[in-house]
This record gives sequence, structure tokens and C-alpha cells, in this order.
Amino acid sequence: MKETQAYIERIKRVNRVCQRLELAVDKSLSAMLAGQAMLVRRIDKDYDSENWEPYLRELWFPVEILASNIVVVEHPARTHFLPGQLLSIIGPVGQPFRFRQKLRNILLIAYHTTPAALLLMLPPLLAKQVSITLVLMGSAREYETNHLPEEIEVMQAEDNLTWPDMVMTLGWADQVFALVGPGDELSYLNEVLQLMRERRSDIPANYVFGVLQRALPCGVGACHACMLKLRGSLKLPCIDGPAFDLTELQLN
Ligand code: FES
Repeated sequence: MKETQAYIERIKRVNRVCQRLELAVDKSLSAMLAGQAMLVRRIDKDYDSENWEPYLRELWFPVEILASNIVVVEHPARTHFLPGQLLSIIGPVGQPFRFRQKLRNILLIAYHTTPAALLLMLPPLLAKQVSITLVLMGSAREYETNHLPEEIEVMQAEDNLTWPDMVMTLGWADQVFALVGPGDELSYLNEVLQLMRERRSDIPANYVFGVLQRALPCGVGACHACMLKLRGSLKLPCIDGPAFDLTELQLN
């Protein structure tokens, strides 16, 4: 992980609710894997790179890597950006998602968040013929999906968080990644886990992962503000995250 500078090369409006920014970045960031992110700060031309510091940056997950120095991120259309905007980036932050070796079917859940932090995994999984279902819950239902690969099955959950053929989907999935918004994230994950427990008798280890997007005040393991309790240990999402086995995470 290191601090580098980048700029917004291009901005594309992909639909009514979201835009994609193409960032010209340092080559070291083009090797990021799904699960890893960048800590970003907008800077001016006179930025003093000698005196950079990690604190209070935005967490941006790449959704696509186009070339050795172009990383694409997705933001709500209402957020104002301009091409040429300079950025200071610390990254890569966090650990790549750990997929099962024999993965055939994967269930992705976005609850009160856009699914952006899950999107970088789509091309490599589709290339391996993995079937992907994306369920949008809560305010995630406002997200439009017409720009996602058409092989992905997209479902909208009801207000009570259920969706058609839920038992079948949960039985079919070899692995589940549940991404939650940064508000009351542990409660949201608890709701997802309870839903599964009501419909599946066993939840094995390394089956369902909660993916967190909490604010990372330093992002480098220095402040311990992001600390989480797991069964028998404490973990730092900025170093060990963003995904944690939900059967290990202390959710209350
Ligand atoms: S954000 Fe400071 S230790 Fe994780």
C-alpha cells in the first residue's frame, strides 16, 4: 500500500442513478482484486506530496480495470465531479475476497447500498462460468442494473427482505456475499443472517460473508477506530476486511 496521485480522465453517465469515473492511476493500482479498495482525497495542483496523511478519506471500490493505469469507479449520479480533478490515493486497501475453489453459483446481496463494491468480481467469475444472482434489498432497490452484464440474474427483495424462490436460491448458492451500507451495518448483517438461518438448517463456515464499507478514519491500521469483534479475536476491516465470515462476526 502506498500513496500515489491520480486524476479523473473521463466521466460517463451510465443510467439515471449512477455515473462511472475513469481514473488515470499509478500502475500499482491496476493489480487490485475484487474486495480491495482505495482511500481517496480530492486535491489541488499545489498539493504537497511530502506531507500527505491517511486520515479521513473516502473509500472507493473499483468496479472495472480497463488497462494498466485506468481504474473505473462508480458513484451516484448526483455527486458532482469534473474531468481533470486531481486525487491523492492510498491503496490497495484490504484483502481480496476469498472464493471457494469449486464455485459454480454465487449469491450477491446489496442491502441499503449500491452493489458497486461487489462488481469487480463479475468479469472473472463470468469467465469461469459461475452463475451469479444479485439481490437488491432496502434502498438498494433504487439501483438500476441495465449496465451490468446480462448473464447476471437480478432480483428485487420485498419490504420484508424475502424474494421469490428464496429457499431455492439459498440452497443453490455455493457462497454468499452480503454487502451492506455504512449506517447500521451490523444490524443489517444480522437481519441477513437471520433470514438465512430461517431457511437453511446449517450455515457452514466460509459460506456467507458480510462485506463492510464503514468509514476508515486512517485506513492503515493506525487508529483502531474500525475494529470489529469476531469470535475469539479482534479484526481491523482496513487491514483484514472488507469481508468477514458472518458465522464468526459478533453482530450484537
Ligand atoms: S481505520 Fe484506522 S485502524 Fe482501521
